[in-house]
Amino acid sequence: MTPILTTSLPLPLHSQGKVRDTYRLSDRELLMVATDRISAFDVVLPTPIPEKGRVLNQLSLAWFRETAGLVRNHLAPDLSIPTSVLSEQPDLEQRSMRVVMAEPILFECVVRGYISGSGWKDYQRSGSIAGERLPEGLRESDRLPEPVFTPATKATSGHDENISPAELAHRTGRELAQTLERLSLSLYGFAAERALQSGLILADTKFEFGFHGGDVILIDELLTPDSSRFWDAQRYRPGGPQPSFDKQFVRDYLEQVGWNKQPPAPPLPDEVVEGTSVRYLEALRRLGPAGPREPRGERSERLRRHVPS
Ligand SMILES: Nc1ncnc2c1ncn2[C@@H]1O[C@H](COP(=O)(O)OP(=O)(O)OP(=O)(O)O)[C@@H](O)[C@H]1O
Ligand SMILES: [Mg+2]
Repeated sequence: MTPILTTSLPLPLHSQGKVRDTYRLSDRELLMVATDRISAFDVVLPTPIPEKGRVLNQLSLAWFRETAGLVRNHLAPDLSIPTSVLSEQPDLEQRSMRVVMAEPILFECVVRGYISGSGWKDYQRSGSIAGERLPEGLRESDRLPEPVFTPATKATSGHDENISPAELAHRTGRELAQTLERLSLSLYGFAAERALQSGLILADTKFEFGFHGGDVILIDELLTPDSSRFWDAQRYRPGGPQPSFDKQFVRDYLEQVGWNKQPPAPPLPDEVVEGTSVRYLEALRRLGPAGPREPRGERSERLRRHVPS
């Protein structure tokens, strides 16, 4: 399949994010098309990653289906993509998702089972994450005693800002904040266990929710390498940063060429593109619809130590 940086469908454009082009199918439904764009350090790179969009879309679809019993989601009742839309570009089908339009709740619902990224920075500075005091002496990438809900504002420009659950409650009302926390923790618990069956640690992940017909539903993408930190359980070594499952090649390359992290970003060489594409495909192989769900055999038992309770 030809890699795709931008799409142009015969539909009104609803929004264009760093990765997805979203169109209006009707006044009730959207078509979200995952392109092969990749961003690093919050900047979209000029080079597409073959298969990335398809992988993100297929992974999200699989997770939405698997978690439908835990929380209602935005998958449209009829998932088929109208043929008129794709007649000229049938290869967009695999990367497109038909969803019901929700009113997005403008907070990122992050759950962390392990201490990494901005959570690690918070902890080093304050001994807590999202206002929650944590035991002393944790090392970078350690598993947390319990998964923590660390919401963030969804900044329209610039970086998202972490807030405490109390601050979230202040801004959304207590009932909605509690609902978001409960749903997020339950999704994380389910997915972390499921990922371990495929030999992956789900270190942290971000969910987005919206209102639809009076309900809070799960929207956006779900448990993809773009919204989550997945680590290879067999190579897990707390006490430092873990290699990210997907973007490590890209970040390493960009650091190595000394890019100042301001746009425009430099193009990626072929070997970095290929290495990254292979990692996304590996995530789909392990976690996707036909992924290797291991029976709870010996290996799973060994890995279960990592399962957050
Ligand atoms: N069912 C839905 N109804 C309405 N809006 C949705 C729905 N699902 C996702 N969205 C919104 O569509 C956008 C998805 O596009 P995308 O993820 O590319 O952009 P983004 O999240 O705004 O920016 P970023 O590039 O940082 O990811 C998000 O803003 C998300 O909140
Ligand atoms: Mg997004």
